[in-house]
Amino acid sequence: MEKITSLAKRRGFVYQSSEIYGGQNGAWDYGPLGVELKNRIAGAWWKEMTRLHDNIVGLDAAILMHPRTWEASGHVENFTDPLVDCKKCKSRFRADQIPQENLAAKKCPDCGGELTDTRKFNLMFKTHIGPAEDTASIIYLRPETAQGIYVNYKNIIQSNRMKIPFGIAQIGKAFRNEIVTKNFIFRTCEFEQMEMQYFVKPGTDEEWFAEWRKQRWAYYEKLGIKMDHLRWHQHGPDELAHYAKDAYDIEYLFPMGWRELEGVHNRTDYDLGRHTQFSGKDLQYIDQDNNNERYIPYIIETSAGLTRNLLMIFCDAYDEEQVSPDKNSGGSEGAAGSADDWRTVLHFHPDLAPITVAILPLMKKDGLAEIAQDIRAELKEDYATDYDQSGAIGRRYRRQDEAGTPFCVTVDYQSKEDGTVTLRFRDSMEQVRVPRAELSARIRSEIKAYKRIK
Ligand code: GAP
Repeated sequence: MEKITSLAKRRGFVYQSSEIYGGQNGAWDYGPLGVELKNRIAGAWWKEMTRLHDNIVGLDAAILMHPRTWEASGHVENFTDPLVDCKKCKSRFRADQIPQENLAAKKCPDCGGELTDTRKFNLMFKTHIGPAEDTASIIYLRPETAQGIYVNYKNIIQSNRMKIPFGIAQIGKAFRNEIVTKNFIFRTCEFEQMEMQYFVKPGTDEEWFAEWRKQRWAYYEKLGIKMDHLRWHQHGPDELAHYAKDAYDIEYLFPMGWRELEGVHNRTDYDLGRHTQFSGKDLQYIDQDNNNERYIPYIIETSAGLTRNLLMIFCDAYDEEQVSPDKNSGGSEGAAGSADDWRTVLHFHPDLAPITVAILPLMKKDGLAEIAQDIRAELKEDYATDYDQSGAIGRRYRRQDEAGTPFCVTVDYQSKEDGTVTLRFRDSMEQVRVPRAELSARIRSEIKAYKRIK
């Protein structure tokens, strides 16, 4: 994880929040490459969940919601972690994450000092809205995006004439006052979720639950994730959230071990039932195709962390490889590297890579830079591009490998003569000559046909 964190900072993926003030725990900033990567991951999910499904629509609900929402959802009462403090070293622990013997003996796992009694700690951030800081002005930062979907479910049925089964997808920020924030961006206080709520007829929920598990698994396969680093974990009775009848996590083998990446939950009619009760509004679905049958739909939820997906994709893509000298040159006229060269490379899927294609003139002089700039201007409309003319070509390839750029285009002296350029592939480091006029179409077809080889 140290290597991942350091590369992420060095290359402008992720920085510590407020670093010049010593940093803010549980919060991170996404730099130029990080924000591109995050946007692409969000884009891939959005496409998968909305564009590829005729019956799933999008929503962007507010972070601040009526405080009754969180009473209805059960978060005010149940969204708690058990907390203990060490009276001596002042460390704070989640009681369910320290050894049982320490808890029983009230002994700090770090310093051996005395632990406090376990108390419940609500994870919601509470603040005030308006000028008066009294109980009437309390408002919460949402701890999940899901509730924004539930309170809008009737609006969406009416405005978009949705018929069950249908889904609503949303990407947005969520906030949790996490007791333990470690492992880089894995568990943070401010993070982003990508959630889809699928509304189904009661009795069909188990079928849809199985279907969504299948679809979410296939999604990661499509992104070229190492499938032997993914597994399912079914929640046992004491792990199930207060709203769930059944729940499975997709876990990923992160550097610190197997951890939750995404959850698929059968939330039953719990949420809409509770919102009916707390709002006094009738949230039943009226099935006009079926004698106006009325029922509260069951909800199957797929809930993935966007920022946690970014960490997973980063870890999954990370590799260190030995490079043979011939794979290091810029074609016939490039400078070769040394025999014991290593490269750090991020094998991002080209649909996710922050930069899709980098354009590199072999030399700045003799008009090569102008041709390269020209090519960049042509490709810009269709691809995220970068331009780099400084340093030996091998070193420039290395920089692009570290950024996870799947294609490099090198302009050399032959380009001046016959209008061809070198297209270099990140994963294989193979190079082919391509007529400049065919470059854009070639890159497009390479992206479509991309299969991860390492
Ligand atoms: N709406 C259901 C829900 O929020 P969850 O299992 O609490 O379920 C879903 O969260 C996903 O959100 C997790 O699988 C994880 O990817 C992400 N997530 C949850 N808490 C997080 C945190 N503190 N930091 C980063 N990601 C988090």
